[in-house]
Amino acid sequence: MMCKLYLAPIRGFTDAVYRNTFSEHFSGIDIAVAPFVTTHQGKRIRPALIRGLLPENNTGMPLIPQILSKDPEGFIRLATRLYDLGYGTVNWNLGCPFPMVANKQRGSGLLPYPDKIDSFLETVLPAIPNILSVKTRLGRRHGDEIFRVMPVFNRYPLKEIIIHPRVGIQMYEGKPDLETFEACLGLSAHPVVYNGDISSLDSFQGLSLRFPEVSRWMLGRGVLINPLLPEIIRNGQDIFPHKIEIIRQFHDALFQEYGKILCGPSHLLERMKGFWKYFALSFKDSRNIQKKIFKAKTARRYESVVKHFFESEARWSSTPGKFRG
Ligand SMILES: Cc1cc2nc3c(=O)[nH]c(=O)nc-3n(C[C@H](O)[C@H](O)[C@H](O)COP(=O)(O)O)c2cc1C
Repeated sequence: MMCKLYLAPIRGFTDAVYRNTFSEHFSGIDIAVAPFVTTHQGKRIRPALIRGLLPENNTGMPLIPQILSKDPEGFIRLATRLYDLGYGTVNWNLGCPFPMVANKQRGSGLLPYPDKIDSFLETVLPAIPNILSVKTRLGRRHGDEIFRVMPVFNRYPLKEIIIHPRVGIQMYEGKPDLETFEACLGLSAHPVVYNGDISSLDSFQGLSLRFPEVSRWMLGRGVLINPLLPEIIRNGQDIFPHKIEIIRQFHDALFQEYGKILCGPSHLLERMKGFWKYFALSFKDSRNIQKKIFKAKTARRYESVVKHFFESEARWSSTPGKFRG
């Protein structure tokens, strides 16, 4: 079956710079969902909020913007603005696990309240020109919360339901709950996108054997760790002999591109150190390189540590390290 690969929204990582740079160096991703933007009640939409979503800043791959909100009016206003920018589809975030978000009944915090989801969709859907897709977890506290939410989704015309089979309070701990995901597949009137812990060709193949009816797959941290993963999945085999050089070129391009937009070397360093939490896991002895990079206090020091690593220390690991957050 032809499968469609989605790049997951990862706030602080898969922004426009990352997505554009990614698509100059790699292929395999069909479409990305952008990290969320929030609505602000009663306020006009600040240009800075949607700068990363402007079509001229997003030339690399098709994009679905994502909105985090429980306020129908704000959602309608923002979705309509995004439609005017050319976005025929927007995604509603029902998965964000962070207590600051979830405690306010946003993101995964709405999942225990199917009636609120229902009335939100009832108000929003007839009022927006876009098609709506939804990204959800199984619940906030309990995986069975989703069983009261799926019938609500089924009553509305949605493009697709992206399911990350964990609950909010798990954050990213524990294993995805594949039994409950399977039950959701059976219940959904809409196409379902699987998302969670696809970190290698093996893990992808295991999931696609288990869920042959799924043709849409979303990859997040697995791509941050190994940006060749989508191509490897597409090819059904790992045929890249010069991975370290390929990753190095990508790293250098990211460093350069972020250098153009982030003000000051400390922001740039912080951003690049964030990426290394993931990059490092593609290599043997990942702790060691992480430590050295985190210690670098200046851009010059950072560049020399990274250069040395790529030129003489880096050894590719055939089994990527474990995700941690
Ligand atoms: C640092 C971080 C930021 C994230 N930001 C978002 C976000 O803005 N919107 C969203 O729907 N999911 C967000 N997620 C969740 C991912 O999209 C994805 O559902 C999750 O990482 C599981 O998929 P993976 O195992 O392939 O990474 C974030 C995850 C992480 C680790």
